[in-house]
Amino acid sequence: MNKEDLIKKFDRQASIYENNRNNLVLWNWRAKLLQDATGSLLELAVGVGANFPFYDRHRVRVTAVDFSPTMIKKAEEFADRLNIRFEFLLADIEQASFQENQFDTVVSTLSLCGLLNPVAVLNHFNRWCRDGGHILLMEHGISSNWLLAAAQKVLDPIAYRVSGCHYDRDMMKLVEKSDLLIEKSEHHWFDTVHLIWARPDKTA
Ligand SMILES: C[S@@+](CC[C@H](N)C(=O)[O-])C[C@H]1O[C@@H](n2cnc3c(N)ncnc32)[C@H](O)[C@@H]1O
Repeated sequence: MNKEDLIKKFDRQASIYENNRNNLVLWNWRAKLLQDATGSLLELAVGVGANFPFYDRHRVRVTAVDFSPTMIKKAEEFADRLNIRFEFLLADIEQASFQENQFDTVVSTLSLCGLLNPVAVLNHFNRWCRDGGHILLMEHGISSNWLLAAAQKVLDPIAYRVSGCHYDRDMMKLVEKSDLLIEKSEHHWFDTVHLIWARPDKTA
């Protein structure tokens, strides 16, 4: 799918993401993952801002990126409602460039499933995050349960066409293949959802 079609697809889904912002299970995982968020923070593919309630406005300065104008608009409205000031960038994260070591924290939640080259983007995080900083990921992908995995593989082409997200990516493998150092991870729902606490590897 070309990028323009993908952007339109996400634009059309923005209201669904807005209605799902308070999903209780995701809420608890987001709260747990983002406890370590601190300092200058990059959140890629921010969507409608579902992570915003978990940022301590006294501890973080957020740069939020998304390529969907409708998602960004809803994220901005949500930030206004929460009375927090973020910097919003309408950009394709796969083409974006930031300074080396610019951020203390980099956050990606439910985002790598839609990227063309997730490992390349993870390697960008490795450069953009300062030594000792936090890279916090919550990503979904293929299950360790063979039956569920088989269903995910069969459904993937349709799921991608409908939602713009792949359901059959092995997220742990992708993160392990990248330059990041995984410190800790948690796996839920038959290993379809992963919470990953990582750090940059500046020797890579
Ligand atoms: C599944 S939603 C997740 C939104 C949010 N991170 C969350 O946790 O709810 C994926 C988001 O990634 C954005 N996205 C996908 N590919 C992107 C890219 N290459 N650059 C910027 N944003 C992208 C979409 O517009 C959408 O808002």
